[in-house]
Amino acid sequence: MKIDGTPYRSIWVDETDGWSVRIIDQTKLPWSVDLVRLTTLEEMAHAIKAMLVRGAPLIGASAAYGVALAMRTDASDAALAQALDVLGTTRPTAINLRWALQRMGELLQKLEPSARIGAAYAEAAKICDEDVAVNEAIGRNGLALIQEKAKTGKRVNVLTHCNAGWIATVDWGTALAPIYMAHDSGVNVHVWVEETRPRNQGASLTAWELSKHGVPHTVIADNAGGHYMQHGEVDLVIVGTDRVTRQGDVCNKIGTYLKALAARDNGVPFWVALPSSTVDWTIRDGVSEIPIEERAASEVTTMTGRAMDGSIATVRIVPTSSPAANPAFDVTPARLVTGLITERGLCDATEAALTEMFSDLA
Ligand code: MRU
Repeated sequence: MKIDGTPYRSIWVDETDGWSVRIIDQTKLPWSVDLVRLTTLEEMAHAIKAMLVRGAPLIGASAAYGVALAMRTDASDAALAQALDVLGTTRPTAINLRWALQRMGELLQKLEPSARIGAAYAEAAKICDEDVAVNEAIGRNGLALIQEKAKTGKRVNVLTHCNAGWIATVDWGTALAPIYMAHDSGVNVHVWVEETRPRNQGASLTAWELSKHGVPHTVIADNAGGHYMQHGEVDLVIVGTDRVTRQGDVCNKIGTYLKALAARDNGVPFWVALPSSTVDWTIRDGVSEIPIEERAASEVTTMTGRAMDGSIATVRIVPTSSPAANPAFDVTPARLVTGLITERGLCDATEAALTEMFSDLA
């Protein structure tokens, strides 16, 4: 997608040296577009952990390049094992991390150390290119849902939570891909963007993306989604996901479950957009089997924003004596999910439908 007319992906190899990796520091958005150069395994692990890069598909692509950077320093068996270990423990919930590392590991373990650097860069680039193609297909498949709603002739209102746009992937996004395509093809689409406390991925990232692309949108407090559904102001919900189980339970940013409950109560379709690399075929019950990342309490007790003088300021909003808890994700049971938007088409959130559509992976 473009930033002020210039096409970007969210991660790429620096064209001047041909080996270091460039990312957009997402902790600086929406205030500035900082392109950060990463040169080591440790820098990439930090970028994932500290959420300079985030979003399940981008976490996977970043980890793949982290392995390539590690191989450049030391391509021995021990260094490969260490890189897979270090990157594998950066964030626990998004399954794309494990998927990408498994793919890198299986390929590189078969090769002599001397062949590993080139192969690692080539595989990471392949993962990125595939991600772009897969998200484009998700966009095309989800577009039909928005076009169907547009047949009434009225504005189509889509509600989304967190950020599942192009900067959460390599390009296009998952939940936002159908929205970009609808907008580009002339559909009158408007997005309710939930702010997504505590990290505010909706307010800071989704709103930034949609603004840059000219898509009409309104940022709302997380608690406002149910209200708009009750008043007929939401035609469909589309969210991304960090892990889907083989029976169709959906793990996504904290607060997603409440939106699914409100959607069910109001008869609003609740769709989840995902690449097949986000399905964890090894588990069924999301609530008991998906590890939920517990992040720092300071993300809840503080807020960061731009002060009137232009400086970035973090302020505390909770009494200093009050503790806080910060689970980063929750699980929406499959029964609340209308369906899944995948690269191969729309699919019920059931084990039967998923294993039929992805019989080669399940
Ligand atoms: O903690 P984050 O910002 O990495 O969480 C991201 C989300 O929950 C996204 O909705 C999800 O990864 C889907 S991204 C296409």
